[in-house]
Amino acid sequence: MDGIRTNMKPRVYVTRHLPEAAWSELTEVCDVQIWNEEFPPPYDVIAQQIKDKEGLICLLTDQIDANLMDYAPNLKVISQVAVGYDNIDVAAATERGIAIGNTPGVLTDATADFAFALLMAAARRIGEAIDYVRAGKWQTWGLTLLLGQEIQGAILGIIGMGRIGQAVAKRARGFDMQILYHNASRRPDLEEALGVEYRKFDELLQEADFVSLHVNLTAETRGLIDAHALELMKPTAVLINTARGPVVDPDALYWALQNGQIAAAALDVTDPEPLPPDHKLLNLRNLIVVPHIASATTTSRTLMAQMAVRNCVAGVQGKPLPFPVNSV
Ligand code: DGY
Repeated sequence: MDGIRTNMKPRVYVTRHLPEAAWSELTEVCDVQIWNEEFPPPYDVIAQQIKDKEGLICLLTDQIDANLMDYAPNLKVISQVAVGYDNIDVAAATERGIAIGNTPGVLTDATADFAFALLMAAARRIGEAIDYVRAGKWQTWGLTLLLGQEIQGAILGIIGMGRIGQAVAKRARGFDMQILYHNASRRPDLEEALGVEYRKFDELLQEADFVSLHVNLTAETRGLIDAHALELMKPTAVLINTARGPVVDPDALYWALQNGQIAAAALDVTDPEPLPPDHKLLNLRNLIVVPHIASATTTSRTLMAQMAVRNCVAGVQGKPLPFPVNSV
């Protein structure tokens, strides 16, 4: 039995450990229960825990659907510690008057840096080179050893010209790349400000030496890079995905990399995620896979957690969220 509540702070459930700065801001105002494990809480645990809660702070690994929301009649806010929120049924939350918040902006530079790091790593075969040395194969300097691709002067195609796409374009300018972009709506303002050129989707794929994905995962972008898209790309092209795994069809990518349809790829995000250790993609020499860490700097992740706490606190107090996803 719950007994009589003497602590009248709003009740919040948090699905994972938060950095100290965010945690102390939250616990000052809210009565908090937390899942303090490394792996995500099972769906049923979240369902039971949110029954009496006004706020939920969750991660992109938690599936927050309509059924789950129905366990929580008092829920006022779902605060995601990420900018992407494809794990949350936004329409269902809006219907139920539940506000959703996310964390845009503070991870833009960290993510763009990382997309560029992957681009360079794939272009210059850094993963293969590390393996080569560790395997004791480094016997001499060779004129043709581990030849990669030139970045300076190459054509970068950015798909999705939101905050992160734009930040990647700024970095590419420093490498004197020619920058093409494709976006749901054309952006003449950015063409002027960043020196980027608009292309239709197919045209961008045909022209680019490097294709970097920066779209949200939606019904329209799921499987966007499929067998047809990969077929349009140059045999020397490199694909970089720091957006969401399901934007790329993994079987089509495997075929394209295995058969030299494109030269290489680097993925921070995969489908499924995590990728099982025996997944066929991990046998490919020309593929780099890292575990969804593009925003993983101490600064970014702390700021993300603090923004999520501010969204949550505003939501449980019935105030507008500082970083809203929906309007309720
Ligand atoms: C996000 O925020 O959506 C990233 O994928 C993780 O930082």
